[in-house]
Amino acid sequence: MKKMHLAVLTGEILEMLQVKKHGIYLDGTLGDGSHAEQILSRMDPEGILVAFEQDKDSISFAQKRLQPFKSQTKIFHDNFKNARKVLIKEKIGLLNGILLDLGFSSRQLENPERGFSFASDAFLDMRMDQRTKTTAFDLINNSSENELITIFKEFGEERWAKRIARAIISTRKIQPIRTTGELSKLILSTVPAKSKKYKIHPATRVFQALRIAVNNELEALSTILDDGIECLKPSGRFCVISFHSLEDRLVKTRFRQLEKGCICPPDIPQCVCGRKGVLKVITKKPIVPTEDEVKKNPRARSAKLRVAEKIG
Ligand SMILES: C[S@@+](CC[C@H](N)C(=O)[O-])C[C@H]1O[C@@H](n2cnc3c(N)ncnc32)[C@H](O)[C@@H]1O
Repeated sequence: MKKMHLAVLTGEILEMLQVKKHGIYLDGTLGDGSHAEQILSRMDPEGILVAFEQDKDSISFAQKRLQPFKSQTKIFHDNFKNARKVLIKEKIGLLNGILLDLGFSSRQLENPERGFSFASDAFLDMRMDQRTKTTAFDLINNSSENELITIFKEFGEERWAKRIARAIISTRKIQPIRTTGELSKLILSTVPAKSKKYKIHPATRVFQALRIAVNNELEALSTILDDGIECLKPSGRFCVISFHSLEDRLVKTRFRQLEKGCICPPDIPQCVCGRKGVLKVITKKPIVPTEDEVKKNPRARSAKLRVAEKIG
């Protein structure tokens, strides 16, 4: 069996969600179902958990785990960006809370067949949803130099984006770059020697960038941040755990905008747009895992939890 995913910040999530016994909760990133199981075990049988997961392998695992709660769990094999449409179509009422635990799970990362990691050599896949057409192989071998630079810069904040993109273009003229190992070797031989001494592997940022691009992760997150608020009841809570600065910045900025409401330029003395805030930010600073949690689960070290509450 592939290694089970250890969910992060579980105690903090339960405290922030304030799970109601008869509530309706949305878990947008079901994964191995650990957070979902904890939420369900705090509800009466009338409580409902709606879950989204785009990876069919994770769904099979979570379905077995959540078997004792089958009658109160509705799992959709879909992207969470479609949650609002699905909730309306399925006539599910307004939500008491939403949880997003972004990124990939240990099960996905440590399964070499999925091609997420440079720790083992595998086909450059990186699709979370196996039905998606474009793989990391397609992006690496078919994108123009400028497109590659944009992906590496925007989604990986990669300092050596130009150099790496150029090296990819010249290598693939000879033969396609097929595997995680080939790409990681190419990056190692391209970045300056001093970059190899840093704490993170020089391929980390490019791999992150490719994964974000293959799965359109930031677009999905932007959509659910807006749609999610619409789906919440007043006092419903929106909890988002992110694992890198791009996601965290997006959550922080959008929550602040939705709290402020008004979009008038700052030099206008009086508001003319008339927009009102729709939420209150509960976490002025993100909640991070305790040292103890990081010791037990090193993957938790970069987790940041931000929480907002719907008003009105
Ligand atoms: C960090 S894991 C979640 C772990 C989960 N909270 C648990 O307790 O096991 C993230 C999961 O979300 C899924 N995922 C990421 N983005 C998604 C999206 N836009 N729509 C649906 N599922 C997504 C991934 O496939 C992965 O299984």
